[in-house]
Amino acid sequence: MINFFYLILTILRIIKYLISDTRRYSNILSIILYYKPKSIAEIGVYRGVRSREMIQAAKIFNKNIEYFGFDLFEMINKKIQKKELSKIPYSKKDIQNKLSKHAKVKLFKGYTKKTLDKLKNKKVDLIFIDGGHRLSTIQNDWIKSKKFQKKNTIIIFDDYYLNNKKIIKNYGCNQVVNKISDKNYTKKFFFFTDKFIHLKQKLDIKMILLKKLDD
Ligand SMILES: C[S@@+](CC[C@H](N)C(=O)[O-])C[C@H]1O[C@@H](n2cnc3c(N)ncnc32)[C@H](O)[C@@H]1O
Repeated sequence: MINFFYLILTILRIIKYLISDTRRYSNILSIILYYKPKSIAEIGVYRGVRSREMIQAAKIFNKNIEYFGFDLFEMINKKIQKKELSKIPYSKKDIQNKLSKHAKVKLFKGYTKKTLDKLKNKKVDLIFIDGGHRLSTIQNDWIKSKKFQKKNTIIIFDDYYLNNKKIIKNYGCNQVVNKISDKNYTKKFFFFTDKFIHLKQKLDIKMILLKKLDD
C-alpha cells in the first residue's frame, strides 16, 4: 500500500529542490519514486539529510527499508577534509539517532577503502556514491561497491564536474565514470546541472545514473 504522507513529503521536497540552487538532488528522489528500492547504501552520509529523504521516499512503497551508511564521521579532521575536498559530518551516534527512527540502519565508520569490505554478502537496490571527492577515493568506492550490486541495482554518482579540466585530473567522478564501458551497465547523465564555487573557481556539477543489467 502507498504511504501518502511520505508521497506528499517527497513531492514537496522535489519541488523545493527544483526551485533551489541544488536542483540535482531532485533527481535522487525521482529515481526512488521510479525504482522503489528497499535497500539503500550511501557512501558519504554527512548530516544524514539526503539519507533521511531517500529512506522516506523509499517508504512510500515499502514499510521496511534497510539503509547502509559509510562515512568517516568523527574520524575526519581539517587535513582529511582538505584532501578529500569534503565536508565535516555529524557523529556516527547522531546519525544513528537521526535515521534509526525511519529504517533499519547500519553505519560504518572509517575510510571506505576499509569499511566497504565490511558489508559482507549483501546486495542492495540503490547505491549513492557521494563520499570523498578525491579521484582515488571515488575509484575505490566504485570498485568496492560492485560487490553489493545485483541485477537492476541503481548506482548514482554525484560530482561529475563540467567546464573545469584541471579539477577533474584529481577530483570528481569524471574519470571513473568515463572509463566504465562494461555493457552490463546503462549510463545516463541526469538532467540538472548545479553551479558552485570551489577555490574561487566556478564549477558545474552533475549526477550520473547507472543501472546494472545482469548479475
Ligand atoms: C559530500 S558529503 C556527503 C553528502 C551526503 N551524501 C548528502 O547528500 O548530504 C561527503 C562525506 O564523505 C565523507 N568522506 C570523505 N572522504 C571519505 C573517505 N575516504 N571515506 C569515508 N568517508 C569519507 C565525509 O566525511 C563527508 O561526510
